[in-house]
Amino acid sequence: MNKKGFIFDLDGVIVDTAKYHFLAWKKLANSIGIDFSEAQNEQLKGVSRKRSLEKILKWGNKSLSEGEFKRLMGLKNDDYLSHINQMDTSEILPNVAQTLDFLKENKQAVALGSASKNAVPILKKVDLLEQFEAIVDGNDVSKAKPDPEVFLIGAKLLNKEPEDCIVFEDSVAGIKAANTANMISIGIGQKEVLHEADYVFTDFTEMSQDFLKGLISGKNKKQTKRNVSIDN
Ligand code: BG6
Ligand code: MG
Repeated sequence: MNKKGFIFDLDGVIVDTAKYHFLAWKKLANSIGIDFSEAQNEQLKGVSRKRSLEKILKWGNKSLSEGEFKRLMGLKNDDYLSHINQMDTSEILPNVAQTLDFLKENKQAVALGSASKNAVPILKKVDLLEQFEAIVDGNDVSKAKPDPEVFLIGAKLLNKEPEDCIVFEDSVAGIKAANTANMISIGIGQKEVLHEADYVFTDFTEMSQDFLKGLISGKNKKQTKRNVSIDN
């Protein structure tokens, strides 16, 4: 049987934590006199904690000392964790648990590839930690997405070649990272936003078992449309 490596992003793919990031960043930004909108929060998807604060400060035209910067990152994370602590299995996004079960039943290798340093506590809260053979998170990487490092480490831990790996991602940076790693990129979200992905689904309820079987068998391949579109 074919065995592929399936790598899942966490935030926005397995659970919708963007709403908690929004609450925590908004509280922090407002506390230092910076406005923060949902549209700005969108731009922080897949972006590391440090880079997120850098962007917020830029939007607000503010600069901070290194010590203050660190303190504010800590405050944001404490507030974020207070939301995470309330999470339970009801927050797993639709059909994600079933997809993980299906891959396990079909003896596929499954890893997590996330920018978050809170990945393990979140997976514990939603009772999915055991579903992953390998976890690569914000504590393991030195280069953030769109750099492919997080997914390449994931492939290595699963003992798979990058071209035998499939990535599920909701962020543009994550799709770029998967493409750079030469993995099949599957966008979870809007086609217009994730147009660089090989395949896009609104969510996992749209993804059939036949499609997953096609990924396992190799029938569903990496697309070449990015090259084609240049000629149009
Ligand atoms: C990504 C989120 O998965 O993780 C980002 O999409 C977040 O919004 C990043 O900033 C880092 O997460 P954390 O939990 O380490 O602050
Ligand atoms: Mg994400």
